[in-house]
Amino acid sequence: MQHAHIGIGISGGIAAYKIAGLVSALVQNGNTVDVLMTEAATRFVTPLTFSSLTARPVFDNQWAHIDGHEPQHIKIAQSLSLLLIAPCTMDMLAKLNHGRTDDPVSLVVSAIDREKTPVILAPSMNTVMMKQPATQRNIAMLKDDGFTVLDSEYGWQACRAVGEGRMPEQNVLFDVVKEALSTKNSLSC
Ligand SMILES: Cc1cc2nc3c(=O)[nH]c(=O)nc-3n(C[C@H](O)[C@H](O)[C@H](O)COP(=O)(O)O)c2cc1C
Repeated sequence: MQHAHIGIGISGGIAAYKIAGLVSALVQNGNTVDVLMTEAATRFVTPLTFSSLTARPVFDNQWAHIDGHEPQHIKIAQSLSLLLIAPCTMDMLAKLNHGRTDDPVSLVVSAIDREKTPVILAPSMNTVMMKQPATQRNIAMLKDDGFTVLDSEYGWQACRAVGEGRMPEQNVLFDVVKEALSTKNSLSC
């Protein structure tokens, strides 16, 4: 993998605990990783976990660290080669589909020029939530808008259901990021 500046957006799903391993693997491969977290995400895993792994501040509060000339979300959005939102909640899908920007993750997305910087979503939720018409509608519309939306996997869920809605494992997400970066680099050559 070519070294890149990768954003990992985390919204409030139980699969958030799996993202620490992905972030560590990306850092170990020489990438600079900025982690963005919604308030709900910080209830599942602490920002300290990610600031320790990345050796960088976590963007978990859009009202903090504001540089007078350049709000933090704009600076981060412009610096990224790619943003992966994993887990991407049912709520985050709805927000992104409606262009809402009231948390650190959706706010950074709002400032990304997606012709230059791909945004990849990894929806993860209970199987009934995944099948809701609203979820399916939001996924279809986000794809139409040019977001890459990964398929969720079938299997055991933390809510003790078995079905569609599991987030792909860390190694799959790592390969998705690697592939997206190499496609982006070949297109810009
Ligand atoms: C224990 C628990 C687990 C949850 N897991 C998920 C999940 O896996 N996926 C999901 O879409 N929502 C899940 N939720 C609901 C979200 O946390 C909730 O919709 C929250 O408002 C999402 O906020 P965010 O999208 O700003 O991060 C869970 C809630 C709780 C209390």
